[in-house]
Parts: sequence; C-alpha cells; structure tokens
Amino acid sequence: MGAATLDQIWAEAPTEGAAGAKRLRLPPAKLWLRLWAAYAALCFAGISALMIASGTLIDAQNYFASYTERTIADRFEAHAPLLRAAIALPEAERSHSVEAAAATIAANLLDLQVTTDLNGRFLLTAVSDPRVRVEVYGLSGEMLTQAAYTAGGEGAANPRRIRAVFPIAATDGRALGEARVDYAARYDFWKNVTGKAAWAVAMWPITAITSIVIGLTCGVVSARYVTSRLRRVDAVAARWRMGDFSKRISLASGDELEAHAERLNEMARELQTHLDLKQAVAVADERNRIARDLHDTVKQKLFALGLQIAAIDAKARSISKADGPRDDVFGDNIAEAEAITREAQRDLVEIITQLRPTGENNADLPARIAPIADDYMRRFDVAISVSGGDGLKAGPRAEVNLIRIIQEAIANAIRHGGARNIRIAFDRTGPRRRLTVADDGAGFDPQTIKKGLGIQSIEHRAGELPAGRAAYASRAGAGATLNVSWREGLADD
Ligand SMILES: Nc1ncnc2c1ncn2[C@@H]1O[C@H](COP(=O)(O)OP(=O)(O)O)[C@@H](O)[C@H]1O
Ligand SMILES: [Mg+2]
Repeated sequence: MGAATLDQIWAEAPTEGAAGAKRLRLPPAKLWLRLWAAYAALCFAGISALMIASGTLIDAQNYFASYTERTIADRFEAHAPLLRAAIALPEAERSHSVEAAAATIAANLLDLQVTTDLNGRFLLTAVSDPRVRVEVYGLSGEMLTQAAYTAGGEGAANPRRIRAVFPIAATDGRALGEARVDYAARYDFWKNVTGKAAWAVAMWPITAITSIVIGLTCGVVSARYVTSRLRRVDAVAARWRMGDFSKRISLASGDELEAHAERLNEMARELQTHLDLKQAVAVADERNRIARDLHDTVKQKLFALGLQIAAIDAKARSISKADGPRDDVFGDNIAEAEAITREAQRDLVEIITQLRPTGENNADLPARIAPIADDYMRRFDVAISVSGGDGLKAGPRAEVNLIRIIQEAIANAIRHGGARNIRIAFDRTGPRRRLTVADDGAGFDPQTIKKGLGIQSIEHRAGELPAGRAAYASRAGAGATLNVSWREGLADD
C-alpha cells in the first residue's frame, strides 16, 4: 500500500452536505450579509442606549437648572396679572375670580417648564412628581383662597421644598395682598430613565433606518477586507494542493489573519519537509531492496555460472588431453566466457556498492565518505585518500548529492580509467566550497566524450547544490579530475 497522495486525502474528506442532501438548502449567507446584520443590530442597540443615556443626563441637568426660586418666580410673574385683576375687583365679586386665578397659577406652576438649549422645552414632571400649593391673602392678612396640585398621586416622598411669598400690587403701586407659593419636588432617576426609554422606543423607525445604513456600510467594508485576504490565502492553498509548497502566503496586515497565514505557511513548510523525508526514506528503502535482490539473485547466479564455466573448462581440458594436445575449438570461447563473467561480477559489485545507503548523516562529510572509500579499496585494489573538509556539513540533501557524486567519480576512475590512485579533497575559495576527485587513470577528452548516465547524474546533482556546478578536467593518458563547487552557507532544507 503506497502513501496516500494529497489529492486522495482531499478526495476522501467528507464534503459538506453529502449526508444532508435532503435537508432544505438555503443559499449560503455571504460574509457581508452576516456582518451587516451584526453591525446593524449592534448599531441599533448602541444608538438606543446612547439616546437613553444622554437624554437622562440632559434632563437631570435641566431639573437642577429649572427647579429654583428664580424659575418659580418667573412662572408666577407670567400669570400674576390674572390674580392682580381678580383681587382688585370689588369684594362682593372677587371671591370666585380669585379662586380661579389661584387655580390657574398653581396648575401652570406644577408643570414648571423651562426653555432649554437642546430640546426646547423641559417639563419638571418628566423627572419628578411635584406638589404645588398657592395661597392668596388679602390686605388684612385673611386667606382669600388656596389651590393645591400634585403631579402623580401622593407626590414625591422626602421632597425638597421651595417657599416664596409674592406681594400683589395694583398698577398704581397700591398693595392688594400677597400670594404664598409652596413647591415640593424631588428628582426621580427611575422616572427619568423609563421616560427616556419610552422616548427611544418611540423613535425606533429612525434608529432602525440609521442602523441599517451604518451596518451595511461597515459590513460591506469589513467583508471586503476579510475576503480579499482570504482570496490570497486561497490562491496559495490552491498551489499547495497541486503539490507546489514553495509558495507562501504574505498578508502583512499585522492582525489575526496574518498570524493565521503564518501558521499555514509553517504547516506548508512542515508538510514539505515531511514529504521530502518520506520520499528520501522511500528512495533509500528501494535502493536497499534492489541492492539486496541483486546480491541474493544475480550475484549468486553469476558465481554459480563462473563455477560452471570453470567446470566446462576442466572437462574440456581433460577431453582434449585424452584426444591429444589442447588447441581445441572451445578454448577461446571458454576463456572469453570466463572474462565476461568476471566483468559482469565486477559490474554488479560496483552497482551494489553504489546502491549502498549513504550512512549516518550526523557525521561530517569526510567521515561519511570513509567507509565508502574503504569498500572500493577492498574490492578493487585501489588507493583512495580523503583530505580536507574536517567538520564539513552541507545539509542532508546536499550531502547525499555530494556522496553520490563521489561514488560515481570513483566508479568511473576505476572502471573507465583503470586508476590505481584516487585523491578526494575538499577545500574552500572565498565563499565557495570545492570538491575534487582526481585519478591517475587513462583519462579522456571531456569535449568529445559521449556523456553517460553517470556524468549526467553528476551534473544534475551538482545543480541541486546551492549555486553548484561540476566539470571534468582530463586529457587522454593524464588521468581525470572532477571539480564540484557550491556556495557555502546556503544550507538546503
Ligand atoms: N575517470 C575517468 N577516466 C576515464 N574515462 C572516464 C572517466 N570518467 C568518465 N569517463 C568517460 O566518460 C564516459 C561517460 O561516463 P559516464 O557518464 O559515467 O557513463 P558510464 O559510466 O555509465 O559509462 C565513460 O564511458 C568514459 O569513457
Ligand atoms: Mg559512470
């Protein structure tokens, strides 16, 4: 069973609505619509609360500004002519008129109203349940009449009282009597708030229209902000689905969206590393398997074949000995078959050696190459030296590439050049690292040679190194030198 590809994983993920196909499908609510609804509701609540709060505050201020002796005097004076006219009447007729005038004044005083800057008129009864009493006295101090009014039921408990006495005089200055006003009121916060709440409720159509307009504006603007960024995320995610993890989301918005994008980027990086690792492991496993299979099958059979050829040779010799001197017809073919078998064995050993895993990757490069070099020396009777590069690390991928390059160069030197000595060296020039594999073999002309898979793979692997390149320098009869260089510091993955 192979590892599931990303597409498979996506294909198997449950898709929305698959189970509830029979359910009523509403069109998906767009983000701007949801935001609109939320902003409008918030706005409505906010405006209403603001209306209640500010109205309450203003009326409280108005109460304390208007409930003063001065305002009471003003209101009294406004209606005083009525009382003056009534009291000036002859005694027999005035009683009824004075009563009516006192009642009018008391009623007008009760709803002590002032003109305010903000809402024009303020009624004291909006925030209080006042009580007012007006008594009218004649010149000799006898009470002519009294009138009392209460705004709400019993009137306020524990009221603050304002008492005032107003002399009543005729137009020529003659004293006619006096009026005493007793005014009792108390600021009632609850009455104030509930009154303003009722006002806010009554204003709901205006509040609603305002809220809808503001909500729509805010909803559309913020939805555009979010969706434009999500679209960018989506575009990159689409690349990721296609297996291209090199793309990164860049938002630079400095908010939660950017933080999210960064986490997604991090996830993509991890996924990439994970996939690379998985691939590397799979490749290594496959190489191991092939090496093992070749070893267990072809190599054993080649060995057996060698034995058979040796047996044929022995038999042929004994037959030809019996028949006479050995200049038999098979001799050459047998020798040729033996040579081919030996060559095949040699090739196979070389292939198996190359398939070997590249060893522990926490050691430095010379340490990782040493066992490989030993292996070649043991099998092929060559001297291989490794110099320089102490502590050299180049990142996991680059190191595997370098090791495979070295293996191929050694194999070429032995197989094609028939080299006896191979020198592997690491050195550095400026910011660049260099690997040299030099042999004392037959050499070749790099210009005219037909590149095989080996040289092609050397070049390909060098190309994967940071700013890496590879080139053979060689002349027929003068050995061959492979130079590979790459930029240090840009460690891969
Ligand atoms: N070190 C070497 N010494 C002599 N000849 C070499 C050397 N390296 C490569 N060559 C020549 O270059 C050719 C191509 O090599 P390569 O691409 O590795 O293919 P392959 O090894 O599969 O034949 C070889 O056939 C050989 O003629
Ligand atoms: Mg080769």
